Amino acid sequence: MTNPLYQKDIISIADLSRDELELIVATAKDLKHNPQPELLKNKIVASCFFEASTRTRLSFETAVQRLGGSVIGFDSGGNTSLAQKGETLADSVKVISSYSDAFFMRHPQEGAARLAAEFASVPVINGGDGSNQHPTQTLLDLFTIYETQSSLQNLNIAFVGDLKYGRTVHSLAQALSLFNCNFYFISPQALAMPDYIIEELDEAGINYSTHESIEEVIDSLDILYMTRVQKERFDETEYQHMKSAFVLNGSMLSKVRDNLKILHPLPRVDEITTDVDDTPYAYYFQQAENGVYARQALLALVLSNQFQES
Ligand code: CP
Repeated sequence: MTNPLYQKDIISIADLSRDELELIVATAKDLKHNPQPELLKNKIVASCFFEASTRTRLSFETAVQRLGGSVIGFDSGGNTSLAQKGETLADSVKVISSYSDAFFMRHPQEGAARLAAEFASVPVINGGDGSNQHPTQTLLDLFTIYETQSSLQNLNIAFVGDLKYGRTVHSLAQALSLFNCNFYFISPQALAMPDYIIEELDEAGINYSTHESIEEVIDSLDILYMTRVQKERFDETEYQHMKSAFVLNGSMLSKVRDNLKILHPLPRVDEITTDVDDTPYAYYFQQAENGVYARQALLALVLSNQFQES
């Protein structure tokens, strides 16, 4: 079978078809059970973080090295010629891509990865651009959902927290809209899903509803996707008033479905209390580990046309 992702830029989840998403999930599953330590031998991947990251950067760099490749790059844009000498992103990207076989980046500005792809001579993979997109997070989320539910189809999924600025929930809702899932959106009104995502869901005929608390829907969920409500966006009184509606604690799990899994892109602040961590429903740390396999899958498919699932 021809590999449709070979040498492709990965900028937005909307650029990937359902078949391509399923291929990445299947490849991640395969690589989790059948490591391929030589697959990227002699390949160099540039890891360029113009904005802070723990999981995305480290899991990507782990993925490259476990596939036998090498990593160059930086983890803070502050010391680059772009930041200190006024170099344009276009010039930086042209040069860095001449040193590498693929270019992986995070940047604080929406659209930066798309711009970089115009100037790079190698595939660009977006590790998050402002509040816009985080496609590789979505790939690991899809892999984790598949791993825990044995399907991506017809699931009941709640998204909780900051749905306005949270780039992970934008990408994930777009991807799951290809799999006929039911969505429950739970957020303060000021942090509701952006109109453009709602319009896309309407066009795709997806079932969704909005709710004011987790308790309203928790007992019918397969996946509860938590995110942080950003305290800095509210005054203290308003924040204290709304906070309890968007915090998950262990006592709320007494009647949930057996197959429920709680996900979170992390970092967590206080939106999931630590008594949830030891329940069979918590899966956010396994989800973070799956970032390595999902990113290995992407690298294998983007950089190797010979890659075959075993
Ligand atoms: N989930 C996620 O993107 O985490 P980092 O910001 O640590 O990369």
